[in-house]
Amino acid sequence: MAPKETLTVTDNRTGMTYELPIQDGTIRALDLRQIKTGPEDFGMMTYDPAFTNTASCRSAITFIEGDKGILEYRGYPIEELAERSTYLEVAYLLLKGELPTEKELKEWTGHVTVHTYLHESIKKLMEGFHHDAHPMGMLLSTVGALSTFYPKAKNVFDAGQRNHDIVRLIAKMPTIAAFAYRHTIGFPYVYPDNDLSYTGNFLSMMKKMAEPRYQVNPVLERALDVLFILHADHEQNCSTNAMRSVGSAQTDPFSAVAAATAALYGPLHGGANEAVLKMLREIGSLANVPAFVKDVKEGQGEKRLMGFGHRIYKNYDPRARIIKRLAEEVFEVTGKNPLLDIAVELERIALQDDYFAKRKLYPNVDFYSGLIYEAMGFHSDFFTVLFAIPRTSGWLAQWQELLGDPDQKIARPRQVFTGPARRSYVPMAKRTPAG
Ligand code: CMC
Repeated sequence: MAPKETLTVTDNRTGMTYELPIQDGTIRALDLRQIKTGPEDFGMMTYDPAFTNTASCRSAITFIEGDKGILEYRGYPIEELAERSTYLEVAYLLLKGELPTEKELKEWTGHVTVHTYLHESIKKLMEGFHHDAHPMGMLLSTVGALSTFYPKAKNVFDAGQRNHDIVRLIAKMPTIAAFAYRHTIGFPYVYPDNDLSYTGNFLSMMKKMAEPRYQVNPVLERALDVLFILHADHEQNCSTNAMRSVGSAQTDPFSAVAAATAALYGPLHGGANEAVLKMLREIGSLANVPAFVKDVKEGQGEKRLMGFGHRIYKNYDPRARIIKRLAEEVFEVTGKNPLLDIAVELERIALQDDYFAKRKLYPNVDFYSGLIYEAMGFHSDFFTVLFAIPRTSGWLAQWQELLGDPDQKIARPRQVFTGPARRSYVPMAKRTPAG
């Protein structure tokens, strides 16, 4: 006889027993609400700060098996996609569920390509940023401002409108990013060259100077495309959760992508690769690596080995493995980044160390990506922008899935209230200093 797909819970406060259905290895948190000590009791909730053990959605997009270091988009292993696909194909796959046929890819690429230009007023808006504005701040505010240019984007349940705005976002993110970069270095903005590939055009907008057409190095163009594939989606991470949470209020996708970009900005999320380079520079030489690792261990979590550890991967992040290999190809063109030796030594020492082994801390996607970006001539404060551009397709795929999911409502967690019990207002004369 097949075992029953239920969970029996006994409430020792009352002696009552409840049988809860199990579906896909989960119980519905709302099924716990029936567990009460009496009619006045609100009912049992789960307490899960940071959602460490809560599935917030059902999703068919990205699969991760953290213990084995497996990552798949719509069933395709990340290694095969990185080897054989292009970023625009992968974006299509994430959004539509299947790899495009030749005709579909041509149409899709054509749509994205003709939407790369920004309204001139957006350019003017960007010109208003301070000369040393962080490119992520510029990116997130400019993408949010796009919602004022496309007010019909509010019609989030109109599939045609939604597709249009998805294309706009994927097409315009590289342009905004490149304009932000040119702004920080005080160079004139370069308009998109629609005869180039997605990453080729991006490199042109970043680097072109007086030459009539920017000559894209094919190795760097492909390397960037692979990095974009690797960063395209990663199921319910912090920024995707922000995208879904904001999107659940039926907010337009430009504003929701601005919120997701803001989440990505944080040093524990997309900002980590910038932090890795800072850390490698601080270490400075191979001889200082053991002392640094010792400091991290003794810091009791105060000081972290940036680019190490992951909420989901308890094994080598498969993206880090691909990036480590990719680094060698890039360095053949650009020359070796001198920080690579420190990174390799840091990885070697950390992987042998009990502290990291016990906590299953391995290199994540950010450990080696910054080294490639730096070798390609990108400033470290631009690295998170290079994460945001490709992640846009993942955010949008997740947002689209959310809007079509009948289980979803406006995201609104519960709390366990720990403040004072109800009390009477204290007049000014009777108050004591809070400190
Ligand atoms: N260096 C040293 N110790 C660490 C590190 C690290 N990088 N990461 C976790 N630990 C320790 C932590 O101190 C804790 O130890 P203890 O059990 O003694 O208190 C234990 O490992 C578990 O850590 P946690 O903070 O509970 O783990 P988490 O799942 O909340 O955090 C993380 C995941 C990625 C935020 C964390 O590993 C971290 O801060 N890593 C460094 C930042 C980084 O590289 N972030 C990029 C993540 S990958 C890109 C992305 O998807 O955004």
